[in-house]
Amino acid sequence: MTVLLAPSILSADFGRLAEEIREAEAGGAGLVHVDVMDGHFVPNITVGPVVTAAVRRATKLPVDCHLMIEEPDRYLDAFARAGAGMVSVHVEAVRHLHRTVCAIRDLGAEAGVALNPGTPLASLDEILPFADFVLIMSVNPGFGGQAFIPSALRKIGDLRERILKAGLPTRIEVDGGVTLDHLEDLVAAGADLIVAGKAVFGNGNPREDAGRMVARLVALAEHGAER
Ligand code: DX5
Ligand code: ZN
Repeated sequence: MTVLLAPSILSADFGRLAEEIREAEAGGAGLVHVDVMDGHFVPNITVGPVVTAAVRRATKLPVDCHLMIEEPDRYLDAFARAGAGMVSVHVEAVRHLHRTVCAIRDLGAEAGVALNPGTPLASLDEILPFADFVLIMSVNPGFGGQAFIPSALRKIGDLRERILKAGLPTRIEVDGGVTLDHLEDLVAAGADLIVAGKAVFGNGNPREDAGRMVARLVALAEHGAER
């Protein structure tokens, strides 16, 4: 199955956000990643449900909201109503993770659990069977355009093994610092969804840059990157 590209709007031109999203979609993106930041869980402030709704209107693709916020339970309903089809929360920010994951699903969205680079996979032990996807951070969250942290590869490989052993359908999303050159290793490690912000929106040509990454992902699916 071909791994999907999830362009992160964090690096897009917000003065022409709808056009940028449509260009990335034309390039073959499989979903749109919306980075929500509150200035508390991470040092940056970005967007919320209002922009999520604008993204929803701009594309037919699934809208994947990555909540880098404290106490995300307060906003799950707002993001679901804004059109988020996937909502991920950080294990580091949630006190009652099982209740939160079930609440996201009850709202009709896919529930994701996100881990920072310093958070061990063991924190997923109890929640894995209840999550639709796991978001493995390959940068410390808060900003686009950072360097990929290579330890994420081993983490993805270990997680893929646990998912296979448990016979779960859980998807793995990787997020942060990903460029064209990382795709082969990420696919081989077992990633299903690949977030890319600067690599897609950072060079002024989202259609072409997304297209290049999607073409590589299709080629890897055809030639079967060994997992
Ligand atoms: C970082 C965000 C990432 C980031 C990805 O906190 O979660 O989604 O925007 O952007 P790049 O690909 O530029 O690192
Ligand atoms: Zn993100």
